[in-house]
Amino acid sequence: MDKPNIKPNIINFSSGPCAKHPGFDVKELESALFGRSHRSKDGKSRINKSVDMMREILKLPEEYLIGIVPGSDTGAIEIALWNVLGERGVDVLFHDAFGQAWAKDVINNLRLDDVKMFKAEYGDLPETSGVSKDRDVIFVYNGTTSGVKFDNLDFISNEREGLSICDATSAVFAYDMDWKKLDIVTFSWQKVLGGEAAHGVMILSPRAVKRLDRSIPNWPVPKLFNLKNADGSLNRKIFEGDTINTPSMLCIEDLILALNWAKSVGGLDGLMKRTESNLQAVTDWINTSSWCRFLAKIEKNRSSTSICLEVKDEEFNALPLEEQKAKINEMVSLLEKEKVAYDIKSYKDAPLGLRIWGGATVETSDIKALLPWLDYAFYQAFKGKV
Ligand SMILES: Cc1ncc(COP(=O)(O)O)c(C=O)c1O
Repeated sequence: MDKPNIKPNIINFSSGPCAKHPGFDVKELESALFGRSHRSKDGKSRINKSVDMMREILKLPEEYLIGIVPGSDTGAIEIALWNVLGERGVDVLFHDAFGQAWAKDVINNLRLDDVKMFKAEYGDLPETSGVSKDRDVIFVYNGTTSGVKFDNLDFISNEREGLSICDATSAVFAYDMDWKKLDIVTFSWQKVLGGEAAHGVMILSPRAVKRLDRSIPNWPVPKLFNLKNADGSLNRKIFEGDTINTPSMLCIEDLILALNWAKSVGGLDGLMKRTESNLQAVTDWINTSSWCRFLAKIEKNRSSTSICLEVKDEEFNALPLEEQKAKINEMVSLLEKEKVAYDIKSYKDAPLGLRIWGGATVETSDIKALLPWLDYAFYQAFKGKV
């Protein structure tokens, strides 16, 4: 098989940190508020500008709060769990490595005794019919490590008493989020926006605010995680540009750049079209592939951001796992050496395969240029097949 002669322009296909937006130029960050306090008038105004832009692009209902918190998405979701849980039983849904991590938090760290698990294997979604409207529910919207997303949130009742708590880090800015079903949503800029990591974002519905005004955590909450005032009510200032601790003003400026780009491609609708087009390019290729398939079993649940693939070739799958791993390693090193793709191996705890980021910052032309190289790399690693 001949080596393809076209290479992607941008070869960053990692699922986090993800590719910077097209046209990103680090020089445009020179105006960041270096050496200035985030609590100064200017500092606060940049933070609030970024928050207002996120709100506008996400079409967030006016009554929802949005704030920046420490610790990237992990920080945001754990801050939520540590501040709100304990009032009632919890249903934890998981279909990927991160959902499993939040389940461990609830059981091993917070030690809640009334927890129900709804688990799915990689490639599937959990069965949701037993999710109770009276309990809190925790779930990952888009399994970044499994390439499986929820296509609707019908399992969350509009009459719920519990809170729906959603880690949506690889979903926000890629999908139309059904806000009325969501009480706490977390994400980080490093995914669909191609922003920087280290900061997380937390969105709260009015119901979540009410819970936070009355919840009394039954465990220690460090200052870094604390969303509350001394009297136990929600510290609303965190959602008005007053961060818990010091954010990076450089990251805030980088976020504003990414959001300006997002607006320039048509806002949320434009971002969604871009990621859908990336998935379509991979789908067209998969439909004719003799050796590769999606890890996600059901088409409507295929993620368009973290596109997870596995080898379907029977001879390959008959090899001992160690040899399969060696072949995949060979493929990804070849693609890296040829300067065609970085970081496309499947997540360490997920089934062996490839994972290509298809979020909005990746150009469809780059995905299209990559695909023939996957055939070539498979052919090289597994001689004569394709
Ligand atoms: C679904 C999900 N949750 C949480 C995380 C952790 O994100 P962060 O490293 O931004 O804390 C990731 C990272 O890939 C993820 O995919």
